[in-house]
Amino acid sequence: MQELRDLLARPLRDLRISVIDRCNLRCTYCMPAEIFGPDHPFLPRDEWLTFPEMARLARLFAEFGLRKIRLTGGEPLLRPRLPELLGLLPHGLEVALTTNGLGLAELAAPLQAAGLDRVTVSLDALTPEIYAAMSGGRGSVERVRQGIAAARAAGLPVKINAVIQRGVNDGEILPLVEWAYSERLNLRFIEYMDVGMTNGWSMNEVVPSAEILRSLNAEWDLSPVEPACHGEVARRYVHADGRCEIGLISSITQPFCHSCTRARLSADGKLFLCLFASEGLDLRALLRAGADDETLRETIRGTWQRRGDRYSELRAQTASQARAEMSYLGG
Ligand code: GTP
Ligand code: 5AD
Ligand code: SF4
Ligand code: SF4
Repeated sequence: MQELRDLLARPLRDLRISVIDRCNLRCTYCMPAEIFGPDHPFLPRDEWLTFPEMARLARLFAEFGLRKIRLTGGEPLLRPRLPELLGLLPHGLEVALTTNGLGLAELAAPLQAAGLDRVTVSLDALTPEIYAAMSGGRGSVERVRQGIAAARAAGLPVKINAVIQRGVNDGEILPLVEWAYSERLNLRFIEYMDVGMTNGWSMNEVVPSAEILRSLNAEWDLSPVEPACHGEVARRYVHADGRCEIGLISSITQPFCHSCTRARLSADGKLFLCLFASEGLDLRALLRAGADDETLRETIRGTWQRRGDRYSELRAQTASQARAEMSYLGG
């Protein structure tokens, strides 16, 4: 195994593969319906990486010390025959999935059977009206909850992600904690980020993690948990009785680029070194031009070794550069 380091001495540990750029929700902070309308030019199918192409790249990345593969989208469960991909991925790595949960009732069991290790479900509100306002009027809390139940019944550990936007769902923070506690689910609050170019992000809408922590501490007895590994994105807290955990992902107020070990592969096979990058390296072109393993290996190695990205730590200086959409790049 060759240990690979980038310009800031960060190893390559996680590969996030976006398997499709479409989604069945239109979250206002990610795919606003006015922009992602019926005529939006999503990738045509022949531009998607095929499962064997994804598996081949994953195998080559794994040679550099990868620990985890995370499947993302858009909404990954919309990619037809997704369980087949799980069967092709390299063994010995953890495989996780980030989903809006709507398709889990049907797919949790087949995905688990095919080798999926765990899921993260995005759920920003429990109040149906607030969920609807944030999801572009699509999906439902009820269906997400059914999806979570199906995942647990299939034996998949479930984690919940909630993006908090001031004036939109900050009133959902405490109800979400109460619900997660009663369901014994680990829950993470994510600061609303300036990803992509379409969500009209403004700092006024960010609820800093420190503020969330203050309101949690007023209601619950929480203790900090030591990070399980270097590069963990969430600062974690456990309920006094050990029942479950709450995490805070502070990409705006406390960026964690110094320990960022993630590479991202878009649905059309471009390798992005940062969530906020404007461009990715076209690995699909290499694959389809017949590149051999050694060429691909050298490309991955050289690209990672030249990586110096740390957008969140430099946000103030670089905010005007073009950024890829999260639905295309994966979260
Ligand atoms: P686990 O800890 O294994 O569950 O993985 P994870 O935290 O990487 O996965 P998840 O997709 O649940 O990440 C949670 C969210 O944190 C993402 O959806 C992003 O919103 C944010 N996030 C994750 N990685 C990065 C990153 O590299 N940069 C920034 N700025 N935000 C990130
Ligand atoms: N800011 C923070 N988190 C976001 N996500 C999508 N867009 C944003 C944004 N602008 C989250 C989703 C999901 C994960 C993949 O990323 O809600 O939990
Ligand atoms: Fe919402 Fe995730 Fe779909 Fe974006 S990809 S619109 S965050 S469900
Ligand atoms: Fe990593 Fe870029 Fe996020 Fe920083 S901003 S943590 S470098 S993905």
